[in-house]
Amino acid sequence: MPIQTLPALLDKMWNDYVEINPLAQKIYDLFTKEGELILNDHIALRTFNHPRVNIDVLSRPFLAAGYTYGGDYHFTDKKLYAKHFEHSDTNLPTIFISELKLEEFSSSLNQLVNRLIDEISPEKELAYDFVAIGRPWNLSIQDYNELMRESDYAAWVAAFGYRPNHFTILINALNKFTDIKDLNTFLKANGFKLNASGGEVKGSKEVFLEQSSTLANTIEVDFTDGKLNIPACYFEFAKRYPLPNGKLYKGFVANSADKIFESTKQGQ
Ligand code: NI
Repeated sequence: MPIQTLPALLDKMWNDYVEINPLAQKIYDLFTKEGELILNDHIALRTFNHPRVNIDVLSRPFLAAGYTYGGDYHFTDKKLYAKHFEHSDTNLPTIFISELKLEEFSSSLNQLVNRLIDEISPEKELAYDFVAIGRPWNLSIQDYNELMRESDYAAWVAAFGYRPNHFTILINALNKFTDIKDLNTFLKANGFKLNASGGEVKGSKEVFLEQSSTLANTIEVDFTDGKLNIPACYFEFAKRYPLPNGKLYKGFVANSADKIFESTKQGQ
């Protein structure tokens, strides 16, 4: 059965995420065992700003399901632009989509990315579940390494394609762990490595959002010319604070997200 509804799409994204990331399932089980009910704050998706796969394309199923544009973000150093989409149903995760600004990269990177995108069939491109379709092109280890030289983000998208980069546990919905520092201590005591770039806790109460994340686990990925162990996805944790109007802040903090992008950097 083709996937045509938002709940089915979100299920597919979660199942795919835990299937390729043993770490995600372990974290989920760890909190479930503690009796916690896990609410997902946001799902992050990555892409290129090419017209066939850009934010406008990836956001289609969410807009169709009633999501609305909530804000945009610039990451100058990483040459990324991002938007978030939110839903009035607070049980639904916010969707954060970033895109690599191809015009800021070399012509060889552009040629390589264009060649990958040319491989996407029109049926795949039009599929409702395109955001969860996986890698819609073939990729060699050589091409992966070439992309890596300019951008680890580009290499990640090329290797994994369209699937969630991370899910995020909403700390506000947890019972035992209300302080992000206690949560981090608990994760480390259970053997998980945290992204320490810019400190383990990104953001603060003053910017209405605190975040931390694990480092991505490494998984074996098939390429056209062999297999390679590379960083896959990570798990994120977010604590949101109320704005002066009393409503919980739903946006993101560019400076914090900038550091969190490094959770999939090689050699962390
Ligand atoms: Ni995130």
